[in-house]
Amino acid sequence: MNIDILTLFPEMFNSIMGESIIGRARNKGIIKINPINIRDFSKNKHNRVDDYPYGGGSGMVLMNQPLFDALKSITQNRKNSRIVYLTPKGKTYNQKIAKVLSNEENLVLLCGHYEGIDQRIIDEWVTDEISIGDYVLTGGELPAMVLIDSIARLIPGVLGKSESFIDESFYSGLLEYPHYTRPSNYKGRKVPEILLSGNHKLIDEWRTKESIRITIERRPDLIAKLFKRDDISMKEKVKLKKMINEVIKISNSKV
Ligand code: ADE
Repeated sequence: MNIDILTLFPEMFNSIMGESIIGRARNKGIIKINPINIRDFSKNKHNRVDDYPYGGGSGMVLMNQPLFDALKSITQNRKNSRIVYLTPKGKTYNQKIAKVLSNEENLVLLCGHYEGIDQRIIDEWVTDEISIGDYVLTGGELPAMVLIDSIARLIPGVLGKSESFIDESFYSGLLEYPHYTRPSNYKGRKVPEILLSGNHKLIDEWRTKESIRITIERRPDLIAKLFKRDDISMKEKVKLKKMINEVIKISNSKV
C-alpha cells in the first residue's frame, strides 16, 4: 500500500512512523509512507500557505494553490486514489472504516491546519472526510497517524504470527481479556489458576468469557452490534448468546 500524506509538518511522520511494527513494515516494503510538504508547492514568494477567510473572522485557511498543485502532482499517475481529509467534521473513524481503507492500493491523507481548507478543494478532490473522535486537535497529523497505524496492522504480513489478530468471528468485536505474565504471585496478587493449568481448551474458554464479561460491563453497545453483523454466522451467534448467558449467571451468583 502506498500512503501519501499532505502536511505542513512532514518530520512528525518520519520519527513516529519509523519505529516498531510500522517501521518494520516500511523496511519490508509492505507499506510506503510518503510525507509531502504542502509548502514545497507554494508559488508565493514568501512560501506562504495560508490566507484570510472570505467573510472575515478569526483564523486562517490553507491556500488553494499549493494544495491543488500537490494533489494534482500526487494523483497524476494514479487514478482512483482515495483522498481522505482529516477533520473533526468528518465521519467518526472505527475498525470497519480501517478495514475498508486497508484494501486500497493508494491512499492520500490530507492534514488540515489553521481553520481548515477551502470548501472547493474538499468538493473537487476529497473522497472521504474522517474524524478520529469528538475533540479538536491542532492539526490532522495525529489523526493521520492513527489511521495509518490501524490500517497497516490489517495488511497481510505487517503483523508477525504472534501479534496477529483474529477476525471474522465474534472475538474481533469484543474487548480483550486480561493478560498476565511472570511472576505468578506479584505482591500477593495471584494469576488466575486456570492460566497455569496447561489446559488450552479451558484457557480459551476462560478468556472468551472474560472478554464477554468486560464488554458487558464497559461497552454493552458492542455486544448489541455483534448480533447485527452479517459476517458472523448464525451458529457463532448462538454460541455467543450461550456464553453471554453463562457469564451473566456467574456474575449474578457473585452478587
Ligand atoms: N483535526 C483536528 N481535530 C481532528 C479530529 N478530531 N479528527 C480528525 N481530524 C482532526
